[in-house]
Amino acid sequence: MMVKSALGRFGGLIILAMMWATAPLLQAGEPETAMTLEDAGAAVQAVEQGEYTKRGADTCLKCHDEDNEYPVFPIFKTRHAITTDERTPFAGLQCEACHGPGGEHGKRLRSGETRAPILNFGKDSWTPVKEQNRKCLECHENHQRIEWIGSLHETSDVACASCHQIHVSHDPVLDRDQQPDVCYQCHLSQRAQFYQSSHHPVREGKMTCTACHDPHGDDGSDRLVKATLRETCTGCHAEWRGPFLWEHAPAAEDCGLCHRPHGSNQPSLLKKRPPQLCQQCHSQRGHPSINADGSAASSRNPFVVIKGCLNCHFQVHGSNHPSGVKLTR
Ligand code: HEC
Ligand code: HEC
Ligand code: HEC
Ligand code: HEC
Ligand code: HEC
Ligand code: HEC
Ligand code: HEC
Ligand code: HEC
Ligand code: HEC
Ligand code: HEC
Repeated sequence: MMVKSALGRFGGLIILAMMWATAPLLQAGEPETAMTLEDAGAAVQAVEQGEYTKRGADTCLKCHDEDNEYPVFPIFKTRHAITTDERTPFAGLQCEACHGPGGEHGKRLRSGETRAPILNFGKDSWTPVKEQNRKCLECHENHQRIEWIGSLHETSDVACASCHQIHVSHDPVLDRDQQPDVCYQCHLSQRAQFYQSSHHPVREGKMTCTACHDPHGDDGSDRLVKATLRETCTGCHAEWRGPFLWEHAPAAEDCGLCHRPHGSNQPSLLKKRPPQLCQQCHSQRGHPSINADGSAASSRNPFVVIKGCLNCHFQVHGSNHPSGVKLTR
């Protein structure tokens, strides 16, 4: 098969040759990655101003067929291929709704000719990330109301295609069990946090990153699903939402003052253990966990043993008991 051998043996060379052929835009002799954003932008424009194929996907599939190294076909099992839904690519321009006009690219070549480029996706593609994402947003800004512009992933130049796979029957990032691994490609330290002794049950498959995060989010709130961190937490932990008769000021304000969101080696996702946790804010006066001479208190001191301060002030999130003002009941 023509495509197979081209992809298999000469793929890289052809890509380079293809890039040179499109350029005065490119500096001859330099590798693909040396293309400046401006050059790439101009190359995209050149593709976009080209003509569409007359027969759409049928033309593409003549070359990008079952024997191809890259499996294009599973897309027909996805929502993008529901032709009865007029909003989908396959109800319209088909492959070219995403890849741009392919009239030139899809031509049969005579010997010596190089293939014209067509838009491609992913972080290694020649097509700049902004241009890739613009293609997806042509539909998704309106239809799914993806609020992408201004989000941290957008401003960090992350491609839609770095998280989403289009040519697979099930996109892993939409799958409960597989989603975290997609995120860990870039967020390795968060993976380590979920392996700490106290952790939210993400690796147990009981919740996903998107239980708390909006991956497209634009509201400037750490891209959480709710407006504040506290609301995000109390969305599930409603028992600590309050209001309480006797509030504990930090719990009424921000759960993150005492808890880590992903994992911790202290129990209950705590940042520190009591009494140190509490003594970040409360003085030792009258409640010593050290002796007057500065030496450590005996291990039988009730301020230190077992739960420390929580031995008495166990209603640390607030109390509804009439005499719970000191959070002891
Ligand atoms: C006549 C054969 C032929 C037709 C028709 C054809 N292609 Fe290609 N296409 C190729 C070959 C060969 C390559 C590999 C080029 C290379 O590796 O440099 C390729 C590469 C691609 C790439 C990767 C480009 C890149 O820069 O990485 C995409 C995407 C693509 N084709 C999409 C399409 C679409 C969409 C259509 C229909 C509009 C289409 N092709 C029609 C032969 C064809
Ligand atoms: C909804 C948008 C969308 C549609 C429709 C679509 N593609 Fe793609 N295509 C993508 C994305 C995104 C990638 C990049 C996948 C990746 O990162 O591996 C891709 C990759 C490819 C590649 C692999 C290029 C390479 O890097 O080697 C080919 C070939 C291709 N598409 C052809 C087609 C053909 C043929 C059709 C129509 C049958 C089609 N595509 C329809 C979005 C689309
Ligand atoms: C021509 C319009 C169009 C383009 C272009 C397009 N999409 Fe879609 N996409 C749709 C429609 C319509 C749906 C189905 C929505 C629904 O059922 O509510 C969809 C569904 C999706 C879904 C959800 C799939 C699922 O199984 O739930 C994802 C993810 C997605 N698109 C990502 C992308 C990405 C990434 C790109 C760019 C590479 C892209 N789309 C380009 C129209 C488009
Ligand atoms: C950081 C990873 C990431 C990036 C980047 C990303 N997405 Fe998503 N996307 C997700 C996840 C995760 C979900 C599933 C959300 C959920 O479970 O609530 C999703 C869901 C979707 C859906 C389905 C929404 C629905 O309600 O059915 C569409 C459509 C979509 N994304 C399009 C896009 C487009 C378009 C872009 C680029 C502008 C993009 N995504 C960029 C991770 C990402
Ligand atoms: C292709 C790489 C990539 C992937 C995949 C990715 N991210 Fe990101 N993410 C980034 C970059 C880059 C930033 C910008 C800040 C940084 O460098 O940490 C970021 C930032 C974030 C932030 C905000 C951090 C802050 O400081 O406010 C969250 C939350 C986040 N990502 C969650 C996710 C989730 C959830 C997924 C999977 C659905 C995911 N990311 C997948 C690259 C990625
Ligand atoms: C229980 C809710 C929750 C879950 C589940 C969750 N996060 Fe977070 N994540 C948060 C909160 C809250 C913050 C903000 C922390 C802050 O501002 O102090 C955060 C912050 C982040 C950040 C910014 C850097 C940092 O660590 O502060 C990244 C990146 C991130 N999360 C990625 C992920 C990924 C990837 C997953 C899934 C594997 C995930 N999160 C699951 C609640 C969660
Ligand atoms: C999507 C629902 C959900 C959200 C949102 C959520 N949690 Fe959780 N949380 C859980 C589940 C489920 C468990 C595990 C309970 C179990 O194993 O019995 C848990 C456990 C905990 C634990 C106990 C951990 C341990 O090791 O015993 C703490 C503390 C906690 N969450 C605090 C928070 C904080 C703080 C936030 C906000 C950053 C938050 N949660 C957001 C569902 C959630
Ligand atoms: C002043 C520090 C502090 C703040 C602020 C705080 N917590 Fe806690 N939280 C603790 C301590 C200490 C424990 C351990 C209690 C114990 O072991 O009895 C705990 C335990 C928990 C648990 C596990 C309870 C159980 O029964 O296993 C959850 C869930 C929890 N907190 C949620 C929250 C939520 C939601 C918020 C914000 C509304 C919040 N916390 C704010 C200190 C705090
Ligand atoms: C982030 C700072 C902070 C942390 C951490 C903190 N507190 Fe507080 N706590 C406060 C503030 C502020 C008040 C309100 C003081 C006031 O109204 O005078 C308060 C009030 C109290 C009160 C009631 C005092 C009164 O006079 O009514 C008790 C008891 C208490 N905290 C115990 C604890 C314990 C036990 C811990 C550790 C589990 C802890 N606190 C952790 C800030 C904190
Ligand atoms: C043995 C039980 C016990 C332990 C352990 C304990 N407390 Fe108390 N705490 C009390 C009682 C009882 C009061 C109320 C005293 C009063 O009303 O005069 C109190 C009052 C307070 C107050 C309010 C101060 C005031 O002047 O009313 C704060 C703040 C406080 N404790 C913090 C802590 C911290 C932080 C720890 C851990 C280092 C801790 N407590 C450990 C019993 C305890």
